[in-house]
Formats: sequence, C-alpha cells, structure tokens
Amino acid sequence: MVIYFSGTGNSRYAAEIIAKETGDDCVSLNKRMKEGDLSPLSSTKPFVLVAPVYAGRIPKIVEEHIEKTQFLGNNKIYFVFTCASTPWITYKYIEKEFLSVKALEPMGWNSVIMPQGWIAGSKIASREENDRILDEAEPRIHAIAAVIVKGNKLSEEKPGKSWMSTIANPMMYAMMVKDKKFYTTDACIGCGTCAKNCPENNITIENGKPVWHGNCTHCCACIAGCPKQAIEYGKSTIGQVPYYNKREA
Ligand SMILES: Cc1cc2nc3c(=O)[nH]c(=O)nc-3n(C[C@H](O)[C@H](O)[C@H](O)COP(=O)(O)O)c2cc1C
Ligand code: SF4
Ligand code: SF4
Repeated sequence: MVIYFSGTGNSRYAAEIIAKETGDDCVSLNKRMKEGDLSPLSSTKPFVLVAPVYAGRIPKIVEEHIEKTQFLGNNKIYFVFTCASTPWITYKYIEKEFLSVKALEPMGWNSVIMPQGWIAGSKIASREENDRILDEAEPRIHAIAAVIVKGNKLSEEKPGKSWMSTIANPMMYAMMVKDKKFYTTDACIGCGTCAKNCPENNITIENGKPVWHGNCTHCCACIAGCPKQAIEYGKSTIGQVPYYNKREA
C-alpha cells in the first residue's frame, strides 16, 4: 500500500507513479486527515510512505497521523521523500520517532527533487523551470518504483546536515508556520475549494469568503488550488504564481 501526504501535488504524483508500477493501492493521508479517519492501514504488500520534506522532517501533521494509526499485514516499509533541494536528515527522525514504535522493518529511503511548493516561505520557479525539474524527477521516481517492485532495499543516501532537522525545524514551526497572514483579494468567488483542499480543516467559508482558524501546517494546498489565484500570504506571495503539480501518473 502506497500512502501519501501532499500539499502541492508532488508527493501525490510520485505516489501514484509508484502505485501504478507496483500494482498497489494508493491511499491519500490528506483524505484520512480531513475525515478524521484513524482506522488501521492493512496491506499484503510492503507499505510505501511518500511525503514532502518540511525543514528536515516530514510534516508534523503526517508524523501525528502515523503515530495514531495502526499498520497491519506486511511489516515492511519504504520511504520516499519529495523535496525542493535536500531531505536533510528526515530519515533519522522517522527511525527515531516512528519505526521504533511501529515495529516495521525499514526498506530504506530515497529522496526526489521536485519543484518548490512553499510559496508562503520561498521563491517559486517559473513554469518552464518547474516543468524541467519534473521531467528530471520522473525517471528517478520510476527507478525507485523498480526497486520496490523487485522487493529490494532502497540504496542509502547521504543525509544532509542535522541542524536543519534539529534547530531549523522547530524554529520554522514556532516562527513561520502560522496562518495569520493569509488573506483573499477581490478575485475570490467564495467557491470553497480552499476549504475543501485543507487537510487540517482549518478553513471555513463565512459570508462568502474563507476564514483561517489558526491550525495550519503551511502545506499551501489552499493557495495553490485556488482557481482564481485569490489567496495571498503577507507580502511573500505577491507577484508569485503558485505551483501546483497536476500531472497524472
Ligand atoms: C513548510 C515547507 C517546508 C519545506 N522545507 C523544505 C526543506 O527543508 N528542504 C527541501 O528541500 N524542500 C522543502 N520544502 C519543499 C517541499 O518539500 C517540496 O516542494 C515538496 O515536493 C512538496 O511536496 P507536495 O507537493 O507533495 O506538498 C518545504 C515545503 C514546505 C511547504
Ligand atoms: S478557493 Fe479561492 S476563490 Fe474559492 S473560496 Fe477559496 S479563495 Fe475564494
Ligand atoms: S490553511 Fe492552507 S496552508 Fe494551512 S494547512 Fe490548510 S491548506 Fe495547508
């Protein structure tokens, strides 16, 4: 079973490719989170977790969901991290906080460089550049899937510097991962897509406009999925075109 969390579509896309090539089910953690579904995950084939890297770790919302979820059936698990430049030591945290409590056998981890989706905190590349990055990522994802199909372990990658995961990650959550700076422009038509896309159920539509409620993980699904490009985040997003991976496996 391939399970994934995705804000701007990269991990969803990678997960769908892997599921297609392994002939396995593809389960959206976003959907489970939205529905508060904490039922056990059961699989005859090895589990594959695909998730983005947020400052050297997987998103807190994913850590928390997984901690509360029972894994049944096959006890092997692969990890695939999508990131914009480096996964840092994300895997160490998985080992420490997740594998130890789940009694799952790790089958290794690989990262895939994909376009930056964090418009609230980073510069988004041009559409052409993002297409180029995706074209380069695709063979890498297929190669990872081929290893999984064979039942082999993924080869070890050299992890990046630990300060990102140990120092920058808590700082990022404490100082940057807030939703107070979200606002909508006059382009908003009150369609509710942002509320529908939010895995934290953090947005409600009130008087025809979205309202954010203080429980955000900065996945950027609301900004990226808005059909009218009507959401801004402080000054960081002004003049930037949100990135959203809509490719299909
Ligand atoms: C809050 C946040 C923090 C991020 N931190 C990192 C990082 O530390 N290193 C990195 O290479 N990419 C980082 N990124 C980029 C994402 O990992 C990358 O765009 C990923 O493919 C997004 O996956 P998704 O489209 O499935 O949400 C970050 C993105 C967000 C939203
Ligand atoms: S998705 Fe965009 S247009 Fe639709 S309600 Fe949200 S902000 Fe408004
Ligand atoms: S409010 Fe937006 S950025 Fe925050 S968790 Fe929801 S969809 Fe993601």
